[in-house]
Amino acid sequence: MSEIKNVKLNNGVLMPQQGFGVFQITDKELCKKSVKEALNVGYRAIDTAQAYFNENYVGDAIKESDIDRKDIFLTTKVWPKNYGYQNTLDSVEESMKKLNTDYLDLVILHQPLNDYYGAYRALEKLYDEQKIRAIGISNFNTVQYADLVMNMKVVPAINQVETHVFNQETGLREYMDKHNTHIESWAPLAEGKNNFFNNNILNMIGQYHEKSAAQVALRFLVQSGIIIIPKSTHIERMKQNMEVWNFKLNDYEMKAIQDLDLDKSLFFDYSDPKQVERLNNFEV
Ligand SMILES: NC(=O)c1ccc[n+]([C@@H]2O[C@H](COP(=O)([O-])OP(=O)(O)OC[C@H]3O[C@@H](n4cnc5c(N)ncnc54)[C@H](OP(=O)(O)O)[C@@H]3O)[C@@H](O)[C@H]2O)c1
Repeated sequence: MSEIKNVKLNNGVLMPQQGFGVFQITDKELCKKSVKEALNVGYRAIDTAQAYFNENYVGDAIKESDIDRKDIFLTTKVWPKNYGYQNTLDSVEESMKKLNTDYLDLVILHQPLNDYYGAYRALEKLYDEQKIRAIGISNFNTVQYADLVMNMKVVPAINQVETHVFNQETGLREYMDKHNTHIESWAPLAEGKNNFFNNNILNMIGQYHEKSAAQVALRFLVQSGIIIIPKSTHIERMKQNMEVWNFKLNDYEMKAIQDLDLDKSLFFDYSDPKQVERLNNFEV
C-alpha cells in the first residue's frame, strides 16, 4: 500500500495530504461503517461538517475504531446559520460533543456568508485556547480571502474549495501561496460530473501507469501540492483512491491534465443571489 504524505500547514501543524470526506453519508450505520473502513485501510484524516448531519456518527466510529484519537486529523465545518462570535463558539462546543473530542485539528468556516468575520474571531479565540489546532475557510474566492487576511490576526491554514481537473483554481492557489495557505480540494473527483471517469486523457494516461482515471486525477492534485479528501462508501474505491502515492506523472502528462481545466464550477454559480439565499436559508 502506498503511504499518504503529510503537508506542513502555515502554523507548523502536520496534516495528511489525503483524507476521507463524509459528505452525503447521512445514514447512521453506513456512515459508521464507512469511517471505520476508511480508518482500517489507512486514512488518518476525516472531513465532516455541521451541515452533513453525521458528526455524531463520525464520533462513534472513531471511538469504536482501533485508532487513537490523537492519530486522527479531525476536521469539521461551521455552517453560516451558526456564524457570529458567540454562536460560533457555542456551535463548535456542540460539534466537539458530537465528535466525542475535547479538541479539533481543523475547524473551517463552510461558506463566505453571513457574519463570517465574527465567526472567524471566535475561531481565533478557540485557537488561542488550543481547543483547535488550525483555522480554515471554505469556498472563499481570491477577493474574500485577501480581505480576510488583511483584517484577521491568524492567516487561515486552509481554504477548502471545489478543485478537480476541470476546475483547477490556479489563480486562487497562486495568490494564497503568498501567505502559505494550503488549498484543500472538495469534490476531487467532481462527484463524477462531466463524464469524469470516462475522460479520454485521464484513461490514456492511466493505461500507461496501470491506474484508473480516478487515480490519475487524484495523483494530479497531490502532485500539484493540493490536499484531497475523496469520498466513497465502497471499500475497494477507498483503497483505490489511496493508491496514488506510488507513481508519478511526467511533465507532459501534467500538462495534458492542466489543459483539461474549464476554469469554472461544475456545481454552483456563486454569483447568483438565489444560491446565496439557498445557502443562508439552509438549517443545521
Ligand atoms: N466545503 C464544501 O463546501 C464541500 C462541498 C462538497 C464536498 N466537500 C468535502 O469534500 C469531500 C469530497 O467531495 P464529494 O464527496 O462531494 O465528491 P468526490 O469525492 O469528488 O466524489 C465522490 C463520488 O465519487 C464516487 N467515487 C469515489 N471514488 C471513486 C472511484 N475510485 N471510482 C468511481 N467512483 C468513485 C463516490 O461514490 P461511492 O460513495 O458510491 O463510492 C461518490 O459518488 C466530501 O465528502 C466533503 O467532505 C466539501
